[in-house]
Amino acid sequence: MRVAIFGTGYVGLVTGTCLADVGHQVVCVDIDQAKVDGLNRGVIPIYEPGLEPMVKANHAASRLAFTTDAAEAIAHGQVIFIAVGTPPDEDGSADLQYVLAVARTIGRHMRVPTVVVNKSTVPVGTADKVRAAIAEVLAERGEEIAFDVVSNPEFLKEGDAVADCMRPDRIVIGAANAESVALMRRLYAPFNRNHDRVVEMDVRSAELTKYAANAMLATKISFMNEIANIAEKVGADVEQVRQGIGSDPRIGWHFIYPGAGYGGSCFPKDVQALARTAQQHGHEPKLLNAVEAVNDAQKGHLFQLIQRHYDRGEDEGVRGRTFAVWGLSFKPNTDDMREASSRRLLAQLWEGGATVRAYDPEATEEARRIFGERDDLVFCDSAYDAIDGADALVVVTEWKQFRSPDFNRLRETLKDAVVFDGRNLYDPQEIEAAGLAYYGIGRGR
Ligand code: UGA
Repeated sequence: MRVAIFGTGYVGLVTGTCLADVGHQVVCVDIDQAKVDGLNRGVIPIYEPGLEPMVKANHAASRLAFTTDAAEAIAHGQVIFIAVGTPPDEDGSADLQYVLAVARTIGRHMRVPTVVVNKSTVPVGTADKVRAAIAEVLAERGEEIAFDVVSNPEFLKEGDAVADCMRPDRIVIGAANAESVALMRRLYAPFNRNHDRVVEMDVRSAELTKYAANAMLATKISFMNEIANIAEKVGADVEQVRQGIGSDPRIGWHFIYPGAGYGGSCFPKDVQALARTAQQHGHEPKLLNAVEAVNDAQKGHLFQLIQRHYDRGEDEGVRGRTFAVWGLSFKPNTDDMREASSRRLLAQLWEGGATVRAYDPEATEEARRIFGERDDLVFCDSAYDAIDGADALVVVTEWKQFRSPDFNRLRETLKDAVVFDGRNLYDPQEIEAAGLAYYGIGRGR
């Protein structure tokens, strides 16, 4: 099938590449000429395992093209995806200006009946707005061309995006029209072979499904962070509690890891946007508000532990101290630092007068872009380079390579021999037996 995709960000690029990989003819459009030129040369603007060779192979096989020419892409596509960004507005609701601009562009250049697919995470009711925007432009042109707007939310996880796209656990298709459903089923047939993963529903339910999924996952995390904070107060270990509840299939093992708070481009934005949607419709989202508030507080928790340690005795807090920070990205296997907990921690350490020696396997370049050059930030080439000359170690992102460090080396190198473990990677007894002081999340230490 012939597919056009607007937006070569995370969602658009991964979706387009996977659709090309199963044999569809895909044209990806972006307004950013430099990005399009780069992609045509095989330069991938994001770090995502497995994506680069796939882009190159499908591009070389002429199944995947990148262009800034919207008219050409629209002429090409039987199905046109909208996968542009929906950044949060000042009040937290999703800003639809890019989505609606694409809708108008589609209206301007459409020549034959087309199915338009909302792939971006958009508030309930957006499909109707997209439909209205296209209809308005068609009316201005004096044309009557049939089109439909379908909601097909994406459930990709950064770091696993290619696998999630190639082997989806569900394919949600929100459509009012049976022909559109049939077309979408044909498009996704290569991903839907062994058992039927397509869940058909109405458009608004599909739009809400996306938010419900992310809000549920965010709720699990905030819930566990709350339990962790209670555990800390009562002298229990949340990691033992986690083991004790995860085996109940109604609770499950996933997304019950307490830590330094959730970040990324989705959870914080989507929880807020869903809360705003609820309020706009006269419902006060008490639970969602609490999920957000707990997460916000949790992002400051590591610094509280650090302060608590250093405020003992005559010490002057963190002033003049140097902290090794392992991990800057909002989670492992990505260079994405949007809403990352590390950003809050670094800001608090700097405000307290500390210096940071940071190491991240992938996000250094992004961190340089965000923070620029500053005297109180040193980017290091390895995890052990970061602890060199540091007083203490703070682990913020659970990259695999941080899982079993040489504790003796940590003790010998860190001046204060103390580890703040923001992801509960280590066994407190093992680390304490090695002669290090240990602080985790919700572990009574
Ligand atoms: C999330 C969802 O997991 C995807 O299903 C969804 O498609 C995507 O958002 C989206 O809407 O595009 P992503 O933001 O890539 O994916 O990252 P996650 O793996 O979900 O992690 C989010 C944050 O939660 C990270 O900061 C992670 O460290 C944190 N987290 C996750 C915890 O603190 N505890 C956990 O138990 C799990």
